[in-house]
Amino acid sequence: MKTFSIFFAASLFGQAALATRLYAASYAGLVTSLDFSSSAELSTLSETTECGSSPSWLMLDSPNDVLYCLDEGIDAPNGTITTFKTHSDGALTKLAQLKTISGPVMSATYSAPGVLGRKFLAVAHYSGSSVTTYSVDPVQGLFKHEQTFTYQMAAPGPNAARQDAPHPHGVVVDPTGRFVLVPDLGADVVRVFRVNQSTGLLEPIEPLVASPGSGPRHGAFWTPRGSNSTSSDVYFYLVQELSNELSGFRVKYSGNGISFRKVYEGSTYGKEPSPAGSKAAEIAISPENNHIVVSNRLDNTFGPKEDSFAVFLCADPSGKEAEKVSFIGLYPAYGSSPRHFSIAPTQTMVAVALESSQSVAVAQWDKRSGAPGTLLAEQKLEGEIPSVVWDL
Ligand SMILES: *[C@@H]1O[C@H](CO)[C@@H](O)[C@H](O)[C@H]1NC(C)=O
Ligand SMILES: *[C@@H]1O[C@H](CO)[C@@H](O)[C@H](O)[C@H]1NC(C)=O
Ligand SMILES: *[C@@H]1O[C@H](CO)[C@@H](O)[C@H](O)[C@H]1NC(C)=O
Repeated sequence: MKTFSIFFAASLFGQAALATRLYAASYAGLVTSLDFSSSAELSTLSETTECGSSPSWLMLDSPNDVLYCLDEGIDAPNGTITTFKTHSDGALTKLAQLKTISGPVMSATYSAPGVLGRKFLAVAHYSGSSVTTYSVDPVQGLFKHEQTFTYQMAAPGPNAARQDAPHPHGVVVDPTGRFVLVPDLGADVVRVFRVNQSTGLLEPIEPLVASPGSGPRHGAFWTPRGSNSTSSDVYFYLVQELSNELSGFRVKYSGNGISFRKVYEGSTYGKEPSPAGSKAAEIAISPENNHIVVSNRLDNTFGPKEDSFAVFLCADPSGKEAEKVSFIGLYPAYGSSPRHFSIAPTQTMVAVALESSQSVAVAQWDKRSGAPGTLLAEQKLEGEIPSVVWDL
């Protein structure tokens, strides 16, 4: 494995520069710990095969030094969830593993005030058309299966090839921690659950219906910077893979309920048509809280195998007041198929999981444009890379 130091950039980090770690999942059956040094070089610290045959998603519980890994179980009857203890030398030691319904691709945690010392984990299963939940001992990294919701469709959706069945693809917890949203790419809905505050169990409520054939994939909530979670100014942004669209919804809470009013819909290519074969993937609100960033896969916008990020404005420069969403432009993703990315707010960098390039790229985060800036380093790995997370 080769390390590419594209650009020596120690000055960018100032005096507080520290080596940091990243974890990358690979469909070659590997989870790799990478070191990103202050001289902007990426190098492999360690590798494990213990997540299973097709690691698809990583989630770090930093305070507890526990890494959650989903194994999609491609070509296998089941997937798995595994927890690892992280160590400062990059080693990952397995804590627990549980077999699941096939195709886990994203997870998120939440808690319930009535269940002290526990957390809960919700998992979206793409091929298994399901959502599962687990109660978690976050300190020990142990977990127990609680619920399974499996969905069916009477007939395929408008995009018959991709919408042959329900395909839960994302899990997003709302800013109050009382609701869990699951975008379903196959069914063109965002499934909505209320978290029972005394048991932590999910209770399905009215879904958010998306445009037919749009393929809801991932989402992100926006609240004004500095506000508490009961702010009236809450928005939900949804990325739709099949139509390459971003939709924005104003969120309203009433008693035990949550409702959504659409306020925006626009292409991740602005006024240009979507390039053939392109498919939007990940979404995040910028650390400055005023931009929405969406990764575009397989669009070759910046040349062969050079895909893009779409950037939208969504708030004033202070990040405190919502503005009408507007498309700003496209920025380089530094490779092919940026399926996932993680912005490191403290170190003003972004790590990109380039699935088809089979690499991880680290770029400077450009606060002003709310987009990736200069490429700092790239590391080729083995296999397709669906996910990368920082351990700062
Ligand atoms: C494993 O997959 C089978 C077949 O889809 C399913 O019936 C079973 O419930 C799965 N096992 C677990 C533990 O989820
Ligand atoms: C939460 O679950 C408990 C126990 O099943 C139930 O009695 C209660 O009604 C639920 N709360 C709500 C708000 O649904
Ligand atoms: C949160 O904000 C709302 C609206 O501004 C305010 O009424 C409430 O007291 C705040 N709650 C806390 C815990 O700060």
